[in-house]
Amino acid sequence: MTILGIETSCDETSAALVQHTPEQNHVTLLANIVSSSLILHKKTGGIIPEIAAREQLKYMLPTLTAVFAQGLGISSLNAKSPPIDAIAVTHGPGLIGSLLVGIETARTLSMLWEKPLIPVNHMVGHIYANFIGENSNLKPQISKIEFPAIALVVSGGHTDLLLLIGHHDLRLLGGTRDDAAGEAFDKIGRLLNLPYPGGPEIEKRAKLGKADTIRFPRPLLNSDDFDFSFSGLKSAAYREVVKHPVLTDELVNNLAASVQAAIIDVLVIKTLKAAVKYNAKSILLSGGVAANQGLKKRFELETENLKIPLFVPEKQLCTDNAGMIAASAAFTRESVSWRDLRVLPELYFT
Ligand code: KG4
Ligand code: ZN
Repeated sequence: MTILGIETSCDETSAALVQHTPEQNHVTLLANIVSSSLILHKKTGGIIPEIAAREQLKYMLPTLTAVFAQGLGISSLNAKSPPIDAIAVTHGPGLIGSLLVGIETARTLSMLWEKPLIPVNHMVGHIYANFIGENSNLKPQISKIEFPAIALVVSGGHTDLLLLIGHHDLRLLGGTRDDAAGEAFDKIGRLLNLPYPGGPEIEKRAKLGKADTIRFPRPLLNSDDFDFSFSGLKSAAYREVVKHPVLTDELVNNLAASVQAAIIDVLVIKTLKAAVKYNAKSILLSGGVAANQGLKKRFELETENLKIPLFVPEKQLCTDNAGMIAASAAFTRESVSWRDLRVLPELYFT
């Protein structure tokens, strides 16, 4: 089957087409287009929801047109149904105005083209980025993802650890009690006068700095649960920054490396603890922060020691994209009528 995916939960406007057959444990990406309004958010140092949604309104139809041209060679869209079998759309969590753009587009297309509509939880979508085989060149290991699996979803809004018993059979083990890891990267990036979003910028600067310069706190590292907390790290970084009248390049590099090391330590150690406890046969990373190469390398090292296979989506599939939304829909057939689809900005896993 061929599924159209639509994702507009935050500042991206994305549409994708994937193909899936029931015997496959992965989907094939036909096209995955992400239109970003990031340049506008760089100016304000963060996302202003109203501005994000207005941009998405402008981008939605051109993005859809482009994905059909690229994925199926259809040059113009009209009321006649294209050769797709379902439409998947993010219904939450996210910014209400942004979500509405995707939802209303998907509802309209579902009604017009008479296609089933599959609502997808954005966070579950992130996990399913691990089941995408790019451009038919299947990464050899994807078909080997086995359950039970431990999934770490680490993005700008969430830091969650989940146990996956099977497809769409999830148990939430823990999550952040305050800021998400990506949010910590973004806020500390701002303290260091780095452009938005802070995550990739801190990663760049961390490569030039020394990670042992400052020993930042590793909150909840040894707690008995699978929760996280990153707001204390942000305050510790603030206390360090205000000690210095001038932020030299060297200082920024060293602070970036030390902050990144603290975040990586907590994410890796808690995920591995969950993997051991639940006898995981696979570990799946996902979300924007999983694009961090330092995090990936540390996970690669530690999971090799434990002999648990590690899966990390391609870098461009870690951040928000509609391919992951369509991939998630491929493993569930739970469609709803376009009349019943509602936006759920506060949606969580349970
Ligand atoms: O998953 P995502 O694209 O959007 C949300 O659902 O939130 O994640 C965005 C987050 C931002 O906080 C951004 O700073 C972070 O992912 N991020 C990174 C990197 N690339 C993106 N964090 C650390 N290192 C990176 N290379
Ligand atoms: Zn996301």
